[in-house]
Amino acid sequence: MKLRSHFLLLISVLAVVVIAVMGIASYQLNKKNALAEARDKGQLIFNYMLSGRDYFRDEQRSLVLELVEKERFYPELMSGFVVTRGTWEKFDEKMPQYKFKQATIDPLWPANKADADELQLIDFFQQNSEVEEHEGFVEKNGMDYYYFAKPQKVSTEKCLRCHGDPLDAPKDQAMIYGSENGYNWKLGETVSAYIVYIPIKDALLAATKSSLIIVAIGAACFFLALFVIWLFMDRRVVSPIMMLSQRAEEISLGENLATALKVENKNEIGILTESIDRLRISMLTLLERCRRE
Ligand code: HEC
Repeated sequence: MKLRSHFLLLISVLAVVVIAVMGIASYQLNKKNALAEARDKGQLIFNYMLSGRDYFRDEQRSLVLELVEKERFYPELMSGFVVTRGTWEKFDEKMPQYKFKQATIDPLWPANKADADELQLIDFFQQNSEVEEHEGFVEKNGMDYYYFAKPQKVSTEKCLRCHGDPLDAPKDQAMIYGSENGYNWKLGETVSAYIVYIPIKDALLAATKSSLIIVAIGAACFFLALFVIWLFMDRRVVSPIMMLSQRAEEISLGENLATALKVENKNEIGILTESIDRLRISMLTLLERCRRE
């Protein structure tokens, strides 16, 4: 293989390795950032929802209870869970890509029913009562999500008024939700988990896209550099060496001895040119001496 091709092949292999490492590293970094962003969004939405519920529970509910006639139960006015669900339904109309669920083993409201993954999560919270939150990744209906969850326990006897024996529940509640599901919960049991789901497909796609852009820019710069190196090698190294090799050949055959070699640069090629020119002069002197004798 010729020197120039050898050299360029070596650079190309190195460049491919460098660009590939750059691409992989930037993908990993972008992916990490995308997931961190999904996590931030999840926590933001989650905490906002909980704050809405806490405001209702701490500030509004006692006032509502004073105003509403005893024995009546209006879920929209009196249940933090209904307020949270209703708030989310409005949010969902504006930003349907996110999901929030009060996933429950046996709920009053059917849409709150936990699916298989959520049941596992609730079970995990039940087994590990010290765990107050949990996060991770999950695939649902072919979509990848980051999720963030907190357990819901039957924390006081008060809960059992509406979720214990159906006969004790407010009449209005039984009318609206029936007496089948959402009852007979036990004190201390983890019955539910609040879960927010943040889609990560778009964020991961964006991470892949920006890594590809970095690889494309790296490759373009490399080809430009390769072209410049090729030109340089051609003009400054290969052509002069070809010329010198042709002159050395001529000198060895005693041809063209009168034409001096021009030294253009004081670099390694210049030094070689000087040496070959000295060889030419020596050859010329030798031949003249031979001719005279
Ligand atoms: C005055 C009645 C009442 C009390 C007291 C009450 N809840 Fe509920 N709860 C409801 C109603 C009604 C719903 C239905 C929510 C909806 O329509 O989305 C509900 C929903 C829920 C849900 C969502 C799953 C489902 O059943 O749809 C959870 C979890 C829950 N309650 C837990 C609790 C806990 C824990 C307590 C005690 C701290 C409690 N509740 C106290 C009436 C009550």
